[in-house]
Amino acid sequence: MPPMARVFVTRQPVGDALERLRAAGHEVDVWPDGEPPSREALSAHAQQADALLTMLSDAIDADFLAANAHLKVIANYAVGLDNVDLNAAAAHGIPVGHTPDVLTDATADLAFALLLAAARRIPQGAEAVKQGRWGTWQPDGLLGVDLVGTTLGIVGAGRIGAAVARRARGFEMRVLTATSRSGTPLDTLLAQSDFVSLHVPLTPQTRHLIDAHALRRMKPTAILVNTARGPVVDTHALIEALHAGTIAGAALDVTDPEPLPPDHPLLQAPNVLVVPHVGSATTRTRTAMTEVAVDNLLAGLAGEPLPHAAPRPATAA
Ligand code: DGY
Repeated sequence: MPPMARVFVTRQPVGDALERLRAAGHEVDVWPDGEPPSREALSAHAQQADALLTMLSDAIDADFLAANAHLKVIANYAVGLDNVDLNAAAAHGIPVGHTPDVLTDATADLAFALLLAAARRIPQGAEAVKQGRWGTWQPDGLLGVDLVGTTLGIVGAGRIGAAVARRARGFEMRVLTATSRSGTPLDTLLAQSDFVSLHVPLTPQTRHLIDAHALRRMKPTAILVNTARGPVVDTHALIEALHAGTIAGAALDVTDPEPLPPDHPLLQAPNVLVVPHVGSATTRTRTAMTEVAVDNLLAGLAGEPLPHAAPRPATAA
């Protein structure tokens, strides 16, 4: 019996939820390499497929969608959808799904881990120990910042921002929130916050939201945390701000570009901590993301509404 549908999966996801696709009679073709398929390979596989399970590193742009308008559904293995042209997908009638909710806590945990690591200079301490620079206990050795009573500015009031705010309240921090429509004005938040944590999706409106002007608004003692998307911050402006002491430090899960080459000038800037886009990287969360992506695929292939559909783009018809 021929398969009901063919699904191309661009990387091996965590867990065994793909078995649910096979159990439903679908053929599942998983890209076998550790590195993502090239654009050509992705297109060639998409031509043979009815549905795609894509990663945030796959560029699902207007040209790709025009060439693959036959697709019945695309399930993105991320909550962020900046790698997918949602307007083009809508124009071709291709439903797009994503993986919200299940990664909220893991990403908020990572944002808080970065905040704490930067505040208490954990990477510097660990490096000193490894390099044999653990001398006699010093009254002023590796002095950091207390969290209690400080202000955390959260930019973006979605699920992850709200989860970070809950954690901050547990640390007795004052929380300010700025959104595009409400809350504290961004300039005020930047001027008053000891820590600024970014939780906005990457859109044309949020690209370089944190630019040289925004960085100048921040306190010279402030630390910037980014677990959203790298291009929300102007990398060049950030490097300059760190060298100039405009802000005290940056702790980043996401960068522009990604991956960040080891000789990138950002890594030479003082007080910068970078981890390789691991916000959702726990076994439980990544397993749950696969389940959600498969739910989206099964619904899309059955011609049903996706349980976790992408938010409708503002400009879509
Ligand atoms: C997302 O989901 O958008 C994260 O960046 C990766 O899990």
